[in-house]
Amino acid sequence: MLFAKGFHLAVSAEVQQNKPRKASENGAMSGTPLDRLHTLLNDDLAEVERLLADRAASPVATIPDMSGYLIDAGGKRLRPIVTLAAAKAASGDRTISDGGAAIKLAAAVEFIHTATLLHDDVVDDSDLRRGKAAAKNLWGASASILVGDFLFAKSFTLMVETESLKILDILSTAATVIAEGEVRQLSVMGRTDVARDEYMAIVEAKTAALFEAAARAGAIAAVGEGPTSDALGEYGRRLGRAFQLVDDALDYGGATAVIGKSVGDDFREGKLTLPVLVARERASEEDKAFWERALDVSRQTEEDLPRAIALIRATGAVSATLKAAREEATQAKKSLLGLSETAARDELALLADYCVDRAF
Ligand code: IPE
Ligand code: IPE
Ligand code: MG
Ligand code: MG
Repeated sequence: MLFAKGFHLAVSAEVQQNKPRKASENGAMSGTPLDRLHTLLNDDLAEVERLLADRAASPVATIPDMSGYLIDAGGKRLRPIVTLAAAKAASGDRTISDGGAAIKLAAAVEFIHTATLLHDDVVDDSDLRRGKAAAKNLWGASASILVGDFLFAKSFTLMVETESLKILDILSTAATVIAEGEVRQLSVMGRTDVARDEYMAIVEAKTAALFEAAARAGAIAAVGEGPTSDALGEYGRRLGRAFQLVDDALDYGGATAVIGKSVGDDFREGKLTLPVLVARERASEEDKAFWERALDVSRQTEEDLPRAIALIRATGAVSATLKAAREEATQAKKSLLGLSETAARDELALLADYCVDRAF
């Protein structure tokens, strides 16, 4: 708890360092970039939500029950927001509603994300998701995997309905890369010599690939392929890298009640993320021995997590991770510079900083 408090102080200190933000063109800024994007995309997001509920329907009750349980629990809907905002930014803030391709895409992207969460909580043996018991704890691991497969398959139906082979290519490639990233992560589990590059390659695959596809496909649905979709794709990729870095920092420095997931899941699993890589680099010989033992899950004890959190804090490893995330967010914003000025573009830029400052 002490650490969680310290972490939030560290985060707010970083927020304070931010330069004053430019007001968006449609009036005074209020709320967070996420709030404003929700407002900007309100009708489109409502259509996406309807689509998610409709397409999760099945006569096999476990499917809508489990999907509804997870979808209704909320989630930030970041990826569909990125898809819709990318479509808007690419097309000069044009209205994109009326069941258009971008709406279907946004729903497809959220279905892929939901499917990976169902699978991921089985793989990571995580008990809490979106502030509720993980679906696998209620329906079992087998049902979680199978309903995840159902949602994956449904996402492909939605993609086909966009009638764009390019979009199908982008999202099916992203789905492949995510699976590769998860398997790659699994294959380095238990190894203590994971290099930063290898860690970033996993981050790129398991998380950034979907953010990139979400943004690129949204832009393509609006204006087709070109420099604009490339720029937005790069924005998504960088945002995804920043997002996962912050997620990995929150696993040690966040508060369970705020993140809706159990703090320390990565540690209990022996997963080597950037906070741990940095803490180990900066550790004394004695502390190095601690990490060596504690990351071997068969030798880990209950008292090890508080010590790991204290060491991560003492070595400035959370700050170092957030610094890396901020560099990614800066690159994300840079990639938007060539786009014409729109409210959607400006909010996407602010969203990148917001994702680094988040405590949730
Ligand atoms: C969780 O993603 C998986 C990661 C890539 C870290 P989110 O934090 O976007 O999950 P929800 O959708 O808001 O629950
Ligand atoms: C995030 O995995 C990426 C996927 C779900 C494919 P993590 O395991 O790092 O994310 P959380 O912490 O469970 O949300
Ligand atoms: Mg996980
Ligand atoms: Mg995982």
